[in-house]
Amino acid sequence: MAQIIDGKSIAATIKSELQIESAAFISRTGTIPHLALLLVGDDPASQVYVRSKAKTCEEIGFRSTILNLPATTSQEEVLDVIHSWNGNKLIHGILVQLPLPRHISEHKIIETISPSKDVDGLHPENMGRLVLGLPGFVPCTPAGIIELLSRSGISAQGKHAVVVGRSNIVGKPIANLLYQKSPQANAVVTICHTGASGTLRDFTRQADILVAAIGVANRITADYVKEGVAVIDVGINRITDVAKKTGYRIVGDVDFESVLPKVSAITPVPGGVGPMTIVMLMRNTLEAAHRFTRNATINR
Ligand code: GUN
Repeated sequence: MAQIIDGKSIAATIKSELQIESAAFISRTGTIPHLALLLVGDDPASQVYVRSKAKTCEEIGFRSTILNLPATTSQEEVLDVIHSWNGNKLIHGILVQLPLPRHISEHKIIETISPSKDVDGLHPENMGRLVLGLPGFVPCTPAGIIELLSRSGISAQGKHAVVVGRSNIVGKPIANLLYQKSPQANAVVTICHTGASGTLRDFTRQADILVAAIGVANRITADYVKEGVAVIDVGINRITDVAKKTGYRIVGDVDFESVLPKVSAITPVPGGVGPMTIVMLMRNTLEAAHRFTRNATINR
């Protein structure tokens, strides 16, 4: 019987842990961790994500600020907001919801965020630290995957992990985390992407741990996996479903029903990786506030 990795329940446990840590931090330092969220445009899915991040902040005892600017906002105006938040001592974490409108450079915006407030872990300094195995902010979804594996008793030690997708948000950082020489990792890692010659299946069938971060609904079917693989499905794809009131339902990159008989473990969609992303963002925000108070003490 396959182990269904219950991300919702693991995330709820981590949230309770964070509530306790946050209360202790606030009573010890008098500082309330504060996450500032910037959304440019009116994409409905991004609005849901941002509101959900802010709501989780409140539930953990943090402060949050949402700034929703129109899609026509210039890059300069967005940079002005980032500069102002970088200099605001009451803000510890900054998150710019992606994607941004096409006339705004994601790279430019991300590299303007102060690395010490970059709770998304996407700034080149934090990415570089991750690659070097140094402490820094780790992107939330990859951090959540490592946490899911370790809390589910799935060791990556010496395993062959195959990552499908090379995005900056998931593919690149999770591949780097999985091969780090650390107790939660130490896997041999293969990264697959659209540039691969040959068939994707030839690679994925070798995986002991398969991370699917492709962005294509139900792309990984039973013939793409070997018996006993642990599957981490990062996909969040909307597909038409007339039986639903909304007219759609959410599925992953993995065809869950078809691979289920072959896998040793699998994350469902929804309820697998998704809930972990937000709690890892909360953990990073608490860490940012910790660092801020430590530095404030040192500089006094
Ligand atoms: N859009 C989708 N996922 C993410 C994420 O993890 N961080 C940000 N900033 N935007 C996203």
